[in-house]
Amino acid sequence: MTKVEGGGDFTPPEVEIVEGKRGVELFVALAFVVSVLASIALAVTFVLGGQPQIEGALLFVILLGIGVGMVAWGKYLVPQGPYSQEREVLKSEIAERQAFLASLDRGQRQIGRRPFLMKMMGAAIGVFGLVNLFPFLRSLGPQPKKALYTTPWKKGALLVDANGSAVTVNTLEVGGMVTVFPSYDVGGAISQTVLLRAANTAITTRPGRETWGPQGYLAYSKLCTHAGCPVGLYQELTQQLLCPCHQSLFDVLTGANPVFGPAPRPLPQLPLYVDSSGYIRAQAGYDQPVGPGFWERGA
Ligand code: FES
Repeated sequence: MTKVEGGGDFTPPEVEIVEGKRGVELFVALAFVVSVLASIALAVTFVLGGQPQIEGALLFVILLGIGVGMVAWGKYLVPQGPYSQEREVLKSEIAERQAFLASLDRGQRQIGRRPFLMKMMGAAIGVFGLVNLFPFLRSLGPQPKKALYTTPWKKGALLVDANGSAVTVNTLEVGGMVTVFPSYDVGGAISQTVLLRAANTAITTRPGRETWGPQGYLAYSKLCTHAGCPVGLYQELTQQLLCPCHQSLFDVLTGANPVFGPAPRPLPQLPLYVDSSGYIRAQAGYDQPVGPGFWERGA
């Protein structure tokens, strides 16, 4: 009740509604706390590998806590209207002005009197927002790290075909082609390599590759540098490899340089040698990433 100048008392009607609501305040705060705890539990569940049923239940508790808290706050702690007041004289009396100021002041207190609940609601919504980042980050998958830069090929690797049979210097006639893998990674998607025989004598495809093509054998990565399709067709007449996806053509005698189509780079060449038993082996792994380009690959 407010004593006003000019006599008389003024009792704001809302006071009866909002006073004595300590229990409701605690209930609202508890709802937000439950929501925060459920958000933390959801984050822990994500980090530990995730479990759809538990995640769904925690999501339900999070949203329920926020919803119940906001509804209870709005229904029991915020003054309910509408309010009306008879105006018998148009001119405001001093008492009315005082009453208006008192009402305005009370309204300000209504808004500012519950900073704790404001913080709890902010925490509930903020933590829930942060937790929502976890499924997004997890959906990006594991980091590729160095996997894009290297292949299983290494020095001395024995070339074998898809059946695991070792390739010797007599496996192919001139004009022949076979898909090969290192003996320890048969069928490997990154390892797949085209081995072809373009001549009977050693071939130098580029300066610095004088020993890479013994007895006419040349090996190139089978992954197209355009979009990664397998380059599976060898045209002996033109000495070109063809990618069937978008018809890129690679000249095998010049280091699989692309001569037609959208492929932006040559196919990486695998350096070969023939061991003392006649088996064909790799001198080393590929000297550059195989397959299509990626953001960090560079030019
Ligand atoms: S994937 Fe080979 S040309 Fe497109």
